[in-house]
Amino acid sequence: MTEQQYDIAIIGAGPGGYHAAVRAAQYGAKVALIEKKYIGGTCLNRGCIPTKALYASAHMIEKVEEAGEFGVEITDFKVDFAKAVDRKNKIVQELVEGIAALENAWKNDIFIGYGKINGGIPETGFEISIQSEDNRLINAKRIIIATGSSPALIPAFNIDHERILTSDDILDPNFKTIPKKLLIIGAGVIGCEFANIFNAFGSKVILLEYLPSPIATEEPMIVKQLQKKFQSLGIEINVSQNVLSVENTGSGVKATTCSASIPRDQVDSAEKFTFEADLCLVSIGRAKESKNIGLEEMGIKSDRGAIKVNPKTLKTDAEGIYAIGDVTGGLMLAHVAYHEADVAVANALASIGGFPVHEKTPDYNIVPATIFTSPNIGSVGLRRKVAKDQGIDVLMGQFPYQSLGKAKCMGKAEEIGFLMILAEKQTHKIIGASCIGVEASELIAEIALAMQHGLTVHDIGETIHSHPTISEMVLEAAEAVVGMAIHKKGRPIFH
Ligand code: FAD
Ligand code: NAI
Repeated sequence: MTEQQYDIAIIGAGPGGYHAAVRAAQYGAKVALIEKKYIGGTCLNRGCIPTKALYASAHMIEKVEEAGEFGVEITDFKVDFAKAVDRKNKIVQELVEGIAALENAWKNDIFIGYGKINGGIPETGFEISIQSEDNRLINAKRIIIATGSSPALIPAFNIDHERILTSDDILDPNFKTIPKKLLIIGAGVIGCEFANIFNAFGSKVILLEYLPSPIATEEPMIVKQLQKKFQSLGIEINVSQNVLSVENTGSGVKATTCSASIPRDQVDSAEKFTFEADLCLVSIGRAKESKNIGLEEMGIKSDRGAIKVNPKTLKTDAEGIYAIGDVTGGLMLAHVAYHEADVAVANALASIGGFPVHEKTPDYNIVPATIFTSPNIGSVGLRRKVAKDQGIDVLMGQFPYQSLGKAKCMGKAEEIGFLMILAEKQTHKIIGASCIGVEASELIAEIALAMQHGLTVHDIGETIHSHPTISEMVLEAAEAVVGMAIHKKGRPIFH
């Protein structure tokens, strides 16, 4: 029998789901939030937060190693991965509890169990079953699906969660071993972030990447800088590798590859290469979590698991049901899920009527992103190649960290890298930026705000930036676009 009635039911309590639940409650809606595993989803439990906690430990090691230059002699120090993991677990636990407390403060009902849409229409509401020890049925006028993603499992890679692992396994609260040698398949965002972390804790890291370049979506100059840093740290990147198999040998792992340029029908006779290590992390992308949640019953289409939504409304094929976040297969970032949560909540409540909110449309033109390697990589807006492909005439300005007083004061690691800003040639409006270096993630935020408001490089140049700060990188790079950076010689362009 159907029990409680809600304005909105949200399936999945990751960044998309928990954010949607709070936002809906702020507008006065009665909200049910359904979660099968852990509040906070991938991001808080097996993604953004635990990786950044471990990254902070890795960064600490890097700083301790250069302490001597600062006049601080640390003659002997020990790294303790188990302790770093305990710290990470504590941070995760505190944040998860914080989210649960927030939902409670907004009087949202949290149901722990597996959510599935059984049927219904907007006029009468939808029936949702929640499978758990005490199975429940609820009714909601609107539904937001925010079921997220999980590591892609490829049969040939024999992921056994013992020696051949996913990021979920490595971020498990009980994973406390540093392998002597770690093989990472996939030099994308996850692969590169973990390479950095394990290298700092003393592992010999070997990356295998199918494409000719790691993190291939970033600016080639940025990638080159990262490769240089990885090389100096002893992290090995093997590109253009077609990984044919991975096996657990009992005492370690063995991967067999051939060149990615070999056509599929000639792989058998191709020259093979083997890579051995103690453990293997497979990080080759993520699968969407959309099975058995009632899509077929409701006539909701998906493509290889990614729920299809109207790009303007985030509505699925079923009236009254919306989908957001990783499960829609767009940009798999927590802040994109947050943004989509705002849009879906607004559209769902506006369609019910009586709530103080209007319809919204998502805007993906300005999505900042960061790769938390050391140094960080931050980007927003267009890359040079994309701008060229779109026929946009661009001006490019670059500024190196080594010319910045604050970076020099901070240390050797902080002197590495540069910020590159792209502006439209005619208008000098900022259309993109890429950065590798300390606080790249924070610098990109200022540029994102400038882009959101259609600002030009001159608008940034005329804004006083505090000295000496890392944020002066933005000022100098913006002025460099028109050859007017003070601390770098350029060829002035007058507007
Ligand atoms: P998820 O976070 O996956 O949450 C979905 C939730 O739905 C899960 O809790 C799941 O248990 C639940 N669920 C699924 N099916 C059901 C069901 N039938 N019933 C009930 N509940 C269900 N992004 C960033 O922006 N910055 C980062 O630094 C970053 N680092 C990352 C590091 C790693 C290692 C990984 C794997 C990802 C990282 N991401 C990062 C990506 C980020 O975690 C995701 O984009 C984000 O979590 C997506 O949010 P979501 O709400 O769509 O899905
Ligand atoms: P990804 O798409 O970033 O990288 C996967 C890499 O694996 C690619 O370089 C790809 O070419 C390679 N690959 C695919 N198949 C392969 C094969 N068979 N053999 C060898 N290489 C292969 O995916 P990843 O790293 O798994 O991350 C998933 C998502 O999580 C990303 O889309 C990202 O948005 C998100 N994420 C975001 C972070 C952040 O914002 N800092 C951190 C970590 C993850």
